[in-house]
Amino acid sequence: MENMLEKIRRTAEYIRGAVGEMPGIGIILGTGLGDLVNHIEISAQIEYRSIPDFPVSTVEGHSGKLIFGRLGGKYIMAMQGRFHFYEGYDMKQVTFPVRVMKELGVKTLFVSNAAGGMNKEFAVGDVMVITDHINLFPENPLRGRNYDELGPRFPAMTEPYSARLIELADKVAAEEGIRLMHGVYVGTQGPTFETPAEYEYFRIIGGDAVGMSTVPEVIVANHAGMEVFGVSVITDLGGKDIKEVPSHEEVQKAAVKAQPVMTRVITEVISRL
Ligand code: HPA
Repeated sequence: MENMLEKIRRTAEYIRGAVGEMPGIGIILGTGLGDLVNHIEISAQIEYRSIPDFPVSTVEGHSGKLIFGRLGGKYIMAMQGRFHFYEGYDMKQVTFPVRVMKELGVKTLFVSNAAGGMNKEFAVGDVMVITDHINLFPENPLRGRNYDELGPRFPAMTEPYSARLIELADKVAAEEGIRLMHGVYVGTQGPTFETPAEYEYFRIIGGDAVGMSTVPEVIVANHAGMEVFGVSVITDLGGKDIKEVPSHEEVQKAAVKAQPVMTRVITEVISRL
């Protein structure tokens, strides 16, 4: 097997060559949450398909572009479209862009997703700051050979989401009168939504929201020593008394509606970094 380090470096070199100056802030945009891109003063963009070794995005609602520009007065890069385990990518592919970002000099990673809410206080359209996660994917992205250059064999996961950035987000929310929830994100492989018993189980074990992404990227970002900030947009609610049937269309519609709040929180936290 080809050395992963060489692959990361080759991809990073291509991006650096195509774009020039590299940012210290990276953003991964989730399903239906691409509107943040309209707030970026874009200086460069690259289609995933033209980047060597980058997987190509397939799912609806993900256009697959790397975007460079200014947001909240800071130079950032954003992934419009991410790679999901349920699409058939392996964990190394799902997390490859995070490793490339790290190689390019990204130190702070913002991640967003659409998620189903189990917390009984939540409503559709709420924005939840991720305070912690529970990894229920069938594989850890760090399984296999460890490259000490990328991070330790047994990384601590004590503060997977930066307490400093959560505090900053709370300050923004308080100042701007934004209803900002806190919660634990449960990461599952999908592509099925949960059964009523599964939503209930996730709630009992400490989950507030559930989704099919984010956890692999956040594990790799922690391995790489990056500071992480995560937000979930609650697009549907699940539990044993909830009869509404979630669909991809409904998730997208709810995400589109709630995304101005998410965009505002992320932009404002970035501006205060
Ligand atoms: N479950 C899993 N993933 C999701 C959900 C959900 O209810 N909503 C949006 N993504």
